[in-house]
Amino acid sequence: MQIFQTVAALRAFQQDIRAKGQTLALVPTMGALHEGHLSLVKLAQDKADHVVVSIFVNPTQFGPNEDFDAYPRMIEADTLKLKPLKISGVFAPSVAEMYPKGFASNISVRGLTDCLCGAARPGHFDGVATVVSKLLLQSRADFAVFGEKDWQQLQVIRRVNADLNIDCDIIGAPIYRDAETGLALSSRNAYLDAAELRSANQLNVILKQYAQDIRDGAEYDIATADATQKIIKAGFQKIDYLECREAESLKAVHHFDAKTPCRVFVAAKIGKARLIDNMAV
Ligand code: PAF
Repeated sequence: MQIFQTVAALRAFQQDIRAKGQTLALVPTMGALHEGHLSLVKLAQDKADHVVVSIFVNPTQFGPNEDFDAYPRMIEADTLKLKPLKISGVFAPSVAEMYPKGFASNISVRGLTDCLCGAARPGHFDGVATVVSKLLLQSRADFAVFGEKDWQQLQVIRRVNADLNIDCDIIGAPIYRDAETGLALSSRNAYLDAAELRSANQLNVILKQYAQDIRDGAEYDIATADATQKIIKAGFQKIDYLECREAESLKAVHHFDAKTPCRVFVAAKIGKARLIDNMAV
């Protein structure tokens, strides 16, 4: 497993495999790898001859009062977790390599980013769209795999990939959930103490019932108020959003219609963590 720290080294590798007619799948991450990330790697391995995992805690997608400094960084432990999977490489650039002096560009995706995490975290998706475009262009990957836990992020990345003709095949991977509790795995779960974890475990159960209520034709406002109350009772301090939206356009949905795929989305804060989850209705 090679470790690439520069764009030039990653490019040289990509050119070498391309010359041999081989394909590359990129799995972009911010590190603190867990089973969910490893499931993305396995999916990538099914698609391409070579897999590279990028590990970069991207400063531009964190707001001024967010957890950029506290975000777990454990590159040695991450590399050890990846070793048994026999991937071709890890791309771990420095901030200066990604944003050299004079860097002045920003990619902003309209529409899709006005709601959900885009509304709660201004500027977040500009940071994501910019860094992911860079990673796709730097690696010239044939495929890139992203988790569906960040569903809105996945739609934003699909949009930017199409709009800028990056021509990467963007693959969404199903949310990896704890087998017993159903909690969606996240690097931010590391912030939870035992009591908070017990509360967090209830989030997916409440969201599932919310999706079921909407599917069964419940009055939207009543179903939302009911689920909100349950989330607060479970121990969460604040709900950023709890909503039903069309799966692709992310337009608000207040009446379920089986012809239009839609999903329920939640972001809620507990202790130092802000947890998100989503599922199909
Ligand atoms: O989902 C993430 O971990 C990040 O947002 C990503 C896609 C690696 C971009 O920094």
